[in-house]
Amino acid sequence: MKFPENFLWGAATAAAQIEGGYLEGGRSPSIWDNAPAKKIKNGENCHVACGFYHHWREDVALMKEMELKSYRFSISWPRVMPKEGKVNEEGLQFYSDLVDELLKAGIEPLVTLYHWDMPAWVDAYGGWEDGRITAFFLDYAKAVVEKLSDRVQYWITFNEPSCFLMNGYMQGVHAPFKRHYLALPKFTKIFMKTNAETVKLIRKIAKKQPKVGLSFAAGAFIPKNESDPASVEEARKKTFYKGMGTMNNRWWMDPILLGAPVSAYGVYRNGGKRVKEFKCDFDFIGINHYEAFNYSFFGGDKGVDRSKLRQNSLGWVIDERSLYWTVKFNYERYRVPIMITENGVALEDKPNKNGKVEDDVRCRALEGFLINLDRAIKEGIPVIGYQHWSLMDNFEWAEGYEPRFGLIYVDYKTGKRTLKKSAYVYKDIISTNGENI
Ligand code: BGC
Repeated sequence: MKFPENFLWGAATAAAQIEGGYLEGGRSPSIWDNAPAKKIKNGENCHVACGFYHHWREDVALMKEMELKSYRFSISWPRVMPKEGKVNEEGLQFYSDLVDELLKAGIEPLVTLYHWDMPAWVDAYGGWEDGRITAFFLDYAKAVVEKLSDRVQYWITFNEPSCFLMNGYMQGVHAPFKRHYLALPKFTKIFMKTNAETVKLIRKIAKKQPKVGLSFAAGAFIPKNESDPASVEEARKKTFYKGMGTMNNRWWMDPILLGAPVSAYGVYRNGGKRVKEFKCDFDFIGINHYEAFNYSFFGGDKGVDRSKLRQNSLGWVIDERSLYWTVKFNYERYRVPIMITENGVALEDKPNKNGKVEDDVRCRALEGFLINLDRAIKEGIPVIGYQHWSLMDNFEWAEGYEPRFGLIYVDYKTGKRTLKKSAYVYKDIISTNGENI
């Protein structure tokens, strides 16, 4: 198989998960730096993480060795704005140097503005539950876009609103660990307004013609019988109207991509007259995808025996067909070009006695996911890139450092990096543009 010309083959990370250096270079703590030890597995924290803040040149060299065409990373808001009203030039310069290094290596930078590490000072105002966040975020976004947009073209405003808002403000499992179930409509609207204004700002001030998107934690139900049209229609309907289909896909995507309000469970409404203000004309949408909704604990298929299925080390079922159905159903409903901005597998990787990391499960899943992506592309769906999650093992939020998602193995004690077998498999795929999958 051959992928489209100029396909963006890359890998992704997020600042809080890799950078460390949490009080260096003028940075202040984020809500994740301040997470209570009991909320993170093994009492770990992200203060040092992979030390990317110091190792970044070496890491870009590894990306080059893997022949990546793109690298998706996020900017740390508290590194750029450590306190209210203050832009930290040193923080901005860090990202500016990183962008230069990437371009020198022939790698397209894909910048995410918000991947969950809200500054603690913004949280003190109420975070996503207080409308003042919009102005704070726009100030931050302006500083970043002014500094980088002469070289950066791809902008992802937010990463997975469903996760940082529902996990952080409803389930209480992600920072800032709140359980305000009834506040969902309120913080959804504050977020959607902030997002829409950020998109307008980028379009207004970017120096290089911008391509703007947002990364959704999107998914789909795989039809019970993939060749039966009635079964396909049933899966399509559930993908937007059942369980995760409603709360992960439609709740976020209908207002933002169609300007259409959503109501759910009789208590949640996110639209009203203002919903038109939330609609964004994106150049692409980012899709982060890991597991089919069929296997989800919330609203998934009944009677699934997970023990009989392939799972990653977090217990997520690996069924690569779900990438095809996710891309297909989401494109057919929203009609916006797609970039896969995350997809991958967590394993408990360990170097063997020769120092090699033989992550065969990941290698096989990577190929399986790409075969399914190709299936969607062959049907004419515009897919512009694939960013594997993740470039390197990193801080997996409340799960700490145990689950390893990287193409690069990180020894957290020494900071040493080792390319896993999957990195070489991926390099081979990239260098032939997918021909030898
Ligand atoms: C997030 C990443 C995370 C990955 C694996 C996504 O929800 O954007 O930050 O590490 O999934 O859990």
